Amino acid sequence: MEKVLLVGSGAREHAMADALVRDGQAALHAAVAVDNPGITRLAKSVVHTESDIQAIVEHCREHEIQFCLVGPEKPLEEGVTDALLKAGFPCAAPSQAAARIETNKAFMRSLLEKYDVPGRIAYSETDSLSNAVGFSKNLDWRVAVKPLGLTSGKGVKVWGDNFQTPGEVEQYIREILSTGMSGHNRVLIEELLRGQEFTVHFFCDGNSAIPTPAIQDHKRAYDEDKGPNTGGMGSYSSSDGLLPFLDRQAYNEAAVIGQKIVDALRVEGCPFKGILYGQFMLTKSGPKIIEFNARFGDPEAMNTLLLLRSSYVDICRAIIQGSLTKEMLQFQPEASVVRYVVPRGYGSQPEAGKEVIINESGIRGTGSSLYYASCNLVGEKGSTTKVRTTRSRTLAVAGAGSDIASAQRKTQDALQFIKGDVYYRNDIGTADALARKVNVMRELQAE
Ligand code: AMP
Ligand code: GLY
Repeated sequence: MEKVLLVGSGAREHAMADALVRDGQAALHAAVAVDNPGITRLAKSVVHTESDIQAIVEHCREHEIQFCLVGPEKPLEEGVTDALLKAGFPCAAPSQAAARIETNKAFMRSLLEKYDVPGRIAYSETDSLSNAVGFSKNLDWRVAVKPLGLTSGKGVKVWGDNFQTPGEVEQYIREILSTGMSGHNRVLIEELLRGQEFTVHFFCDGNSAIPTPAIQDHKRAYDEDKGPNTGGMGSYSSSDGLLPFLDRQAYNEAAVIGQKIVDALRVEGCPFKGILYGQFMLTKSGPKIIEFNARFGDPEAMNTLLLLRSSYVDICRAIIQGSLTKEMLQFQPEASVVRYVVPRGYGSQPEAGKEVIINESGIRGTGSSLYYASCNLVGEKGSTTKVRTTRSRTLAVAGAGSDIASAQRKTQDALQFIKGDVYYRNDIGTADALARKVNVMRELQAE
């Protein structure tokens, strides 16, 4: 039995915790900011912080932890991995330097240039208002404007969604440059990509980047991709590892990009160990890089870990030892659908403190999995759990099936066992929604 410490307290981390303990190979110890009931039930011990690095190291000493995992990006940016390694605790997670692939967008874009990684796009990274405005004007204002650092998905604004006029683009550039948003007085302007977004997770041991089935997240709060951007309302993957709009060739191109990034980071002296998350836009001319993250996606972690057939503990050991092989990563050849349940108003004015009642045995009866996210436990009675919402996502359900339709039906059945002032998207993984996405790509190809 391996003693494992996991940092993080969302549904992504509940899925990681579940994958760690499900084959009886690991005893879970948790470092959490929120008392996620899913994680605390599985954990042998809990330390109530994700940010106090010294307290996390001490907890590892006290419990003789054998290796550590980190879910969210913030502790990676703050150097939790480096501190743990220094104290003698191996980590299946990237160092602060390797995590710059996510925490510093300018580092990411310049690395792609230096190593001639495919999937690059036109961009300008600058501290000059006139350069930023000039570059945007040259692209006819069809741009994405980004602060360089972490902004919890809230800092990126794009033409069409957030900007309708050149004046609005310029205004946002000024705001980023003058406020030093996310710790830099610089701005990143990118050409606007058109197409369908998709995610590929890579399991990385410093040398190899092994790609896993492609997934599509849904960032918008409401059905038909309407409403404000969120942390992600749900996601699906298909039994062949591709997506209805994504063929083998495009997937392979994305896989090459992931390996090239891991090669580049190794050459730069900061080998990447852990999960690399590639977010791509499938465009008319193939997959282009939107961003790379140094961790599992959330919700996408639930798709990947739900379908993982191999031992997650063995995989983490191989990541740490640098001995990961493709054969070690076996997935059930099934589709998966994940749907988040969120407080009413999530995306704009989320209503915290509302009671949600979850019939866990009812959910289990549908064959779906339940993952708690950011909620506070009120009480448990038999298999009924009561929680209160926070301002973030409350919980998620995930189903697997022979095709996307059957996986989505399982989640639909499971959602009936959740009552309260919450909402969820109804269209994730439905035939209509998939057809719309395929059509968008067809129309784009025909232009
Ligand atoms: P990011 O925080 O970089 O993942 O960006 C958030 C969202 O903004 C992405 O999921 C995309 O929908 C959109 N986005 C980011 N960069 C671009 C781009 N260059 N072109 C079009 N959309 C983008
Ligand atoms: N699914 C988006 C993210 O985890 O960044």
